[in-house]
Amino acid sequence: MKGKILVTGGTGYIGSHTVVELQNAEYEVVVIDNLSNSNIGVLDGIERITGIRPAFKQIDVCDKEALEQLFQEYPGIKGIINFAASKAVGESVKEPLKYYRNNLVSVINLLELMPKYNIEGFVFSSSCTVYGQPDAEYLPVTESAPRKKALSPYGNTKTICEDIICDTIHSGAPFKSIILRYFNPIGAHPTAEIGELPNGVPQNLLPFVTQTAIGIREKLSVFGDDYNTPDGSCIRDYINVVDLAKAHVIAVDRMISGKSLDNVEIFNLGTGRGLSVLELIRTFEKVTGVKLNYQIVGRREGDIEKVWANPEKANNVLGWTAKETVEDTLMSAWRWQLKLRERGLC
Ligand code: WQD
Repeated sequence: MKGKILVTGGTGYIGSHTVVELQNAEYEVVVIDNLSNSNIGVLDGIERITGIRPAFKQIDVCDKEALEQLFQEYPGIKGIINFAASKAVGESVKEPLKYYRNNLVSVINLLELMPKYNIEGFVFSSSCTVYGQPDAEYLPVTESAPRKKALSPYGNTKTICEDIICDTIHSGAPFKSIILRYFNPIGAHPTAEIGELPNGVPQNLLPFVTQTAIGIREKLSVFGDDYNTPDGSCIRDYINVVDLAKAHVIAVDRMISGKSLDNVEIFNLGTGRGLSVLELIRTFEKVTGVKLNYQIVGRREGDIEKVWANPEKANNVLGWTAKETVEDTLMSAWRWQLKLRERGLC
């Protein structure tokens, strides 16, 4: 065993895939989650894949006393990967304080407790949302592109948390941090044992695509075909969730083995390729053989026209590259949707 890692939000979408990769890399994992947007059954999927059931406590990261108890019960935690956060953009506009409380207090609690328990590294899930719509000269976007004012309270929490972490590290805090800016994570584990489980009507593109393909949704709305892009639909950098998870293992290794070049480092996690909504739909149809019922509708308020990553820093410094093809990734999402149907979960 390499060391003990705490994964907050570890039963969530990206969290669960990361727990699998950490266990595959022989880390001992402690998962906490308040189960507000996931369920305990995810641990069964993790166990079926890895043969190991991670330690689990139902804890809200905003509850500092519960965190103290956890650190006492599981001494020797070396690193924290913090996924626990509220993440629905639309909801954040309606309930900003819920977002500021959940996303900021949780990070502050963890950073405050880390020195007391000698925890060496903190990985934070940030987002390409901090770049907003990059000006043309910054596409593909590198880590040094300017951050823009967030369009939602959710996005703003990512920017503020980045600042909280940087300020804390610069004040001389005795630990390191790696901030990972995700582009658009999609797909599921190739075993279809874990995947994305959206609550209610999906807001993100791919779960809406797979739910339409299986007949839960009547049709997919494509938000706009009049953007300044080759086919008029928006462009994103869709990154396979297992590839993304693997970057977290590298980040943890790097911090706790003293390889970080800086006490706080920031990396984009994307493929470097931009794909339009219509291209994604066509590729999904091609690989699954399922025809998608979709309709072009008006633009969605606040949407970014085009953004994709320049992942060279992660490629060169972390030695990490997104490996999965978009075809295999879309197929994994479809297999996961079929598995949910088979289990009567949708
Ligand atoms: C992708 C594309 C939509 C749904 C998300 C998060 C954001 C940040 C990045 C996390 C867009 C189009 C979607 C649908 C559609 N990540 N679309 N019909 O907008 O990039 O944002 O990822 O921290 O905070 O919200 O992702 O999946 O919502 O949309 O046409 O029913 O699909 O317009 O172009 P987005 P998304």
